[in-house]
Amino acid sequence: MLITGGAGFIGANFVHQTVHERPEVDVTVLDALTYAGNADSLADVREKITFVEGDVADAAAVDPLVEASDVVVHFAAESHNDNSLANPWPFVQTNLIGTYTLLESVRRHAVRYHHISTDEVYGDLELDDPARFTESTPYNPSSPYSSTKAGSDLLVRAWARSFGVEATISNCSNNYGPFQHVEKFIPRQITNVLSGVRPKLYGQGLNVRDWIHVDDHNRAVWTILEKGTPGETYLIGADGEENNKHVVELILQLLGQDADAYDLVTDRPGHDMRYAIDSTRLRTELGWEPRFPDFRSGLAETIAWYRDNEAWWRPQKDATEAKYAAAGQ
Ligand code: NAD
Ligand code: DAU
Repeated sequence: MLITGGAGFIGANFVHQTVHERPEVDVTVLDALTYAGNADSLADVREKITFVEGDVADAAAVDPLVEASDVVVHFAAESHNDNSLANPWPFVQTNLIGTYTLLESVRRHAVRYHHISTDEVYGDLELDDPARFTESTPYNPSSPYSSTKAGSDLLVRAWARSFGVEATISNCSNNYGPFQHVEKFIPRQITNVLSGVRPKLYGQGLNVRDWIHVDDHNRAVWTILEKGTPGETYLIGADGEENNKHVVELILQLLGQDADAYDLVTDRPGHDMRYAIDSTRLRTELGWEPRFPDFRSGLAETIAWYRDNEAWWRPQKDATEAKYAAAGQ
């Protein structure tokens, strides 16, 4: 199995899950180790995998690795909305050209391909809209990040239909758990509180995200690999809708602080209001169920992980906060 982006947040958790639960799988990771990739995230399993440092948009690096694989799971991406607003180019390069490069290679070698994508391709929902995203919701992305992910999904659909590439796509909601970069909302606020800094909420903090534990996401990917139908798309979500204000209050409470000890800061331009996933198809057709349905206890476990692993996140913290400070966030 070739896993791209295996030194990033979700990819590293996928590698751990695969090595521990499916020792028969021969894992190769391809990762460019950008600012978001961290070889330390794979330290525990380093002896059990092959690690290749390289770019998914580099056909010469990609092709022999794909040729030697039975299946490719493509996690690698530029993944942070705020960065895409500051500089969209790496998003176009990695998310579009990188996906194109992998697709041409899996097409050439007739290799099974699974594409990791996001619910953000569907745009956003109003707070009072009872609707949730389904597999037939039209694409309507808002940011440079989500538009490049939407474009990459459409490439996969086209390569499946036009060239018969054996591909599946999953669109998942917001993940939380260990090894997530401190630029992202939940780890940023946990590590702020652990550093004696007040959490920062964009706007009024009323935006809603649909949280899922990263291990539930990754088990769903395995379910799709084993039982999914090539050419199809599956939405992954665990009914975890929470507004940002409530998440920050919960983090503060779990860390023994006053629930209102946060600051409201400059909002994200074009900030999507609400995401919500209807994962009925994955549950009824493929039999997947989340193992972390309780957000509060999953969050408490995640807080404990950051408390116990400061050596992992501390080196990223100052540079990340300097970027935010420059944007008034
Ligand atoms: P991340 O930013 O933590 O990790 C991305 C990884 O990709 C890093 O290890 C980085 O070094 C690597 N990478 C970046 N550019 C590369 C390139 N050109 N070549 C090779 N490697 C490269 O991202 P994440 O949060 O783990 O997200 C992984 C995937 O899941 C992405 O495709 C993202 O769109 C998708 N996704 C994320 C979430 C979420 O909540 N984080 C939710 C749904 C879908
Ligand atoms: O929905 C899936 C997507 O979730 C993934 O595709 C993306 O890769 C992933 O980054 C995530 O995107 P978001 O933009 O939703 O995540 P982020 O962690 O950046 O922000 C979550 C919410 O918290 C969002 O409403 C913005 C807000 N926020 C974020 C930060 C960093 C704050 O209020 N304060 C902050 O400091």
